[in-house]
Amino acid sequence: MSIIKNNFEKMNVTKIKNSKNNNKLTMITAYDALFSKLFEEIADMILVGDSLNMSFAGKPDTLSATLDQMIYHTNAVCAGAPKAFVILDMPFGTYLNENQALENAVKVYQQTNANAIKIEGGEDRAHIVKHLCSNSVAVMGHIGLMPQYVRSEGGYKVRGKTENDTLQLIKDAIAVEKAGAFAIVVEGVKSEAALRITQAVNIPVIGIGAGNVTDGQVLVWSDMLGFFEDFKPKFVRHYLDGAKLVKDSVNQYRNDVQDKSFPSKEEEY
Ligand code: KIV
Repeated sequence: MSIIKNNFEKMNVTKIKNSKNNNKLTMITAYDALFSKLFEEIADMILVGDSLNMSFAGKPDTLSATLDQMIYHTNAVCAGAPKAFVILDMPFGTYLNENQALENAVKVYQQTNANAIKIEGGEDRAHIVKHLCSNSVAVMGHIGLMPQYVRSEGGYKVRGKTENDTLQLIKDAIAVEKAGAFAIVVEGVKSEAALRITQAVNIPVIGIGAGNVTDGQVLVWSDMLGFFEDFKPKFVRHYLDGAKLVKDSVNQYRNDVQDKSFPSKEEEY
């Protein structure tokens, strides 16, 4: 059975919005051309997530990611996957007010082929989403557990555990939708709350750690392919034992070098 979608068509914001109540959307992160090429005709959207600061740059959180770093990785992703709908995750501190957000979004559009940007924040940042959208920037929202709020919130906390918090999340989603976002990531939210959020808006809700009730899912590639060995979040499913496969292969390579079976005569010039 082929896993490649038939009749692959490049996504755009209209098709993404029209997916609501029609077909579930699949988004995956990518940070380079090698992997984006592999995902290009399978995933509906590729997110150049600021999670790369942790998984690629080895930092403890996403907060020190820079716009230039995100632009560099987005250019690599777009080069590997020119047909993909690519979203650049705006890093912490690059959209503190309307003018700064627009200036940085323009830089992204001028220096990359990203189709859209993603910003974290609900009611508190809806005015920024509105300013961006009214200046022709396609914006994906991100509410719920927001990794860029980790220090101000005192950790990564699952949201939607109380009625009050659920009502706040619904208000956040509606504010971001009204501001013009074409979709919203909802992260780390109890599935009962995620269902109510999904039903409250007319744009697709892409869940991560929010149950199967949303309009689509997003996963970080290195998590879902089993490359991150230290810890497996509850919501991650490993589709590959990546770390083990790589380590076994490199181990085999070392053994072959040591016993001189690599390179063989056929592998010589
Ligand atoms: O940075 C990222 O990879 C993300 C996803 C977890 C949604 O924001």
